Amino acid sequence: MAKVVYHLPDGTTSEVDVDAGQSIMSGSVNNNLPGIVAECGGSCACATCHVFLSDEYRELFAEPTDEEAELIEYLDGATDESRLSCQLIVSDTLDEIHVRVADSR
Ligand code: FES
Repeated sequence: MAKVVYHLPDGTTSEVDVDAGQSIMSGSVNNNLPGIVAECGGSCACATCHVFLSDEYRELFAEPTDEEAELIEYLDGATDESRLSCQLIVSDTLDEIHVRVADSR
């Protein structure tokens, strides 16, 4: 389990404990946090789960697949820190992670 701190589009933050094996997207959706819509339910097809992950946390997750990278390429406001949160899977080695949630609405 890891503590995920979501920095939300409205400037507030929410902390959620996310179990290992669950995605950062799931932690948000299961707690009804704003910003992550997750229209495709986590199948890497919609890009409505866009978050920004700083370098310090980036190396804790697997590199984006070609599929994810391609979706990010067409996102408005994408940066080098952009990831799709359904592809960010929490592991037991993680303690606390901060992500900035893009406004996907
Ligand atoms: S939930 Fe659709 S791409 Fe992540």
